Amino acid sequence: MPNRFIVGNWKMHNTISQAETLIRDILALYRANPSVELTVAPPYVALQAVARLLATTPIKLSAQNVCAKDEGAFTGEVSPPMLKELGCQYVIIGHSERRHLFGESDQAINEKIHAALRHDLRPIFCIGERLEEREAGQTHSVIQHQLHTGLAGLGSKALGNITIAYEPVWAIGTGRAATVEQATEVHAAIRSFLTTHWELNAEQIRILYGGSVTADNAQALFQSPHINGALIGKACLNSESFVKIAEIAALD
Ligand code: PGA
Repeated sequence: MPNRFIVGNWKMHNTISQAETLIRDILALYRANPSVELTVAPPYVALQAVARLLATTPIKLSAQNVCAKDEGAFTGEVSPPMLKELGCQYVIIGHSERRHLFGESDQAINEKIHAALRHDLRPIFCIGERLEEREAGQTHSVIQHQLHTGLAGLGSKALGNITIAYEPVWAIGTGRAATVEQATEVHAAIRSFLTTHWELNAEQIRILYGGSVTADNAQALFQSPHINGALIGKACLNSESFVKIAEIAALD
């Protein structure tokens, strides 16, 4: 069983000074456990300040997005080498807010995944269905399409460096998390899709659940052997609840 992976997606919260305060609070509370890999994803502008405070700690750094190009006339974008130099090891790609609020296509997401991997940044690749798609019985076809297009052109070695985050759109920021049964069913389908299409062992694939994870529902979610960790939004903005979820994730 791979280590549990807990990622805090700060989204567009915290200025540089607020980010420093939050990370100091997290560090004051957190007792590292070797079975848990803890990562934070602050906004771009706070990455450097947070990286400095994390330098001698086991907590890792992720960006929330990346440009698929290495450099050039792309106003407002941030490239993989820029993130790498800042100390990022991970980058979230294809978050539902990027897809639905900023119109990111499956193809753009695929290009970003390739670009990140070329620069040794490990993608946290987000997928998930909307409520109307679930209600129409399309969850599995939507997920398969997102996996198929997002991961196009990647070999099994590359797949080993990718974390999948299943985040049903209807569960993000709504306080309505998927049930353990709902999440487990989709995680199992993702695992079987990836083992069928790429030569991977099922255990090599790390699949996080995201969508209204809290310190109250984390215990139940982590009971599922298919759930290898969590991508956390709201609950990661509070140092106590974020550290609590990391503690709950620790394997005995
Ligand atoms: P949430 O966000 O925990 O606030 O639902 C999760 C996410 O968007 O990654």
